[in-house]
Amino acid sequence: MVSSTRSSTAQPVCVLGSTGSIGVSTLDVLARHPDKYSVFALTARERVEELAQQCRKYAPRYAVVLEEEKAVQLRQALSGENLPTEVMCGVDALCQVASDARVAVVMAAIVGAAGLKPTLAAVRAGKKVLLANKESLVMAGPLFMSALADSDAQLLPIDSEHNAIFQCLPYPCESLQDAGVERILLTGSGGPFRTADPAALESVTPDEACAHPNWSMGRKISVDSATMMNKGLEFIEACYLFHASPAEIQVVVHPQSIVHSMVQYRDGSLLAQMGNPDMRTPIAHALSFPQRIDSGVAALDLILQGRLDFEAPDEARFPCLRLAREAIDAGGSAPTTLNAANEVAVEAFLNGQLPFTGIARVIEKVMKTSEVVELTDLDAVELADRIARERASEILKDLYGSCSADSTHRGQPCPQSRSM
Ligand SMILES: NC(=O)c1ccc[n+]([C@@H]2O[C@H](COP(=O)([O-])OP(=O)(O)OC[C@H]3O[C@@H](n4cnc5c(N)ncnc54)[C@H](OP(=O)(O)O)[C@@H]3O)[C@@H](O)[C@H]2O)c1
Repeated sequence: MVSSTRSSTAQPVCVLGSTGSIGVSTLDVLARHPDKYSVFALTARERVEELAQQCRKYAPRYAVVLEEEKAVQLRQALSGENLPTEVMCGVDALCQVASDARVAVVMAAIVGAAGLKPTLAAVRAGKKVLLANKESLVMAGPLFMSALADSDAQLLPIDSEHNAIFQCLPYPCESLQDAGVERILLTGSGGPFRTADPAALESVTPDEACAHPNWSMGRKISVDSATMMNKGLEFIEACYLFHASPAEIQVVVHPQSIVHSMVQYRDGSLLAQMGNPDMRTPIAHALSFPQRIDSGVAALDLILQGRLDFEAPDEARFPCLRLAREAIDAGGSAPTTLNAANEVAVEAFLNGQLPFTGIARVIEKVMKTSEVVELTDLDAVELADRIARERASEILKDLYGSCSADSTHRGQPCPQSRSM
């Protein structure tokens, strides 16, 4: 248990999605700084044994799971261990720990739309929110940003690209124009299929899609990286986070994932943030901002690295990038629809219900047949999300004979996703 070394000045941290790839990396950084941070709450969905182990190590005040059955299992696993940990379950409990008055920092690392409510709860409660859960911003961008503006919360991006952009901009940065920014260069590796024969994409397996060349991540984001929908979601995320128009953001493929993104200024300067591809760097940066702390990541050796390549994205090979651009251009509920259809399609792909290339096909069909409406409140977001999921399930059934209305991730991590 690391709690014995807790300092009374340590900031209590709530880690939403602690059993995931980002959650585990966050705990690794926190464990390096017991004088600065303590673990207040940990949350998970399926991986009860991993959560129990984390509770034994970090002795949080709360451990939250989604379903009662998992809560029973967790209580059994922890019984007789003399921990201060209370086990709770359900979405309300997630929101409760994310907004608890004792919490200083919330790591929002639940995957998918399920992260929206607890992340919004943290924002509304004025927390320092470290945002990994890009889907919540994509599905509810204007609402999310207005909740942020109405609160005392501080939002710090964890996505390595957005964290890099944040580092290359002045702080605070209310307007790109006023800061002299000409454009943001959002880099992406191009994923495992950047140079694959397009005809071979039809038959790639989930494990092949999850085998990212540079990053070790959860299954859903790994598939998103392989389709480049991840870059599309990040494109939308960057528009909201940095008050940028789509024309101010250019996607650049950079296969080595060393330059995490760049900002080009009016005077010809191009600022880049570089580092080895390890999420502990943006996590440590955001946790300690504006200070710098050790993250456990080795320094980048540019001589060893040797070369850095850049190229334009191939939107014919990766239609998801175009679909994301069309969604942000359409505005309103279109990004919500895009995100929901993607979650349904990715889960169906992971379950072997449709081919890899079917992901973009299903999303495009959902986008084409969905009405774009204004999102005035959270209910409207949830309705648009639900309609898009139902539509995606119908289209899946029509095209591939399978159906998946509940697209929330239930899978196990990729074989390599704990190697960080
Ligand atoms: N991994 C990366 O390097 C990376 C980089 C940038 C951004 N992100 C973003 O960070 C988020 C997390 O990614 P990840 O790769 O860490 O995902 P992951 O490994 O799949 O972990 C997801 C976490 O969320 C929990 N969870 C899943 N569904 C849930 C639900 N319905 N309700 C409550 N909790 C739920 C999981 O619990 P169980 O595992 O116990 O089921 C797990 O703790 C995503 O939004 C992703 O886009 C990730």
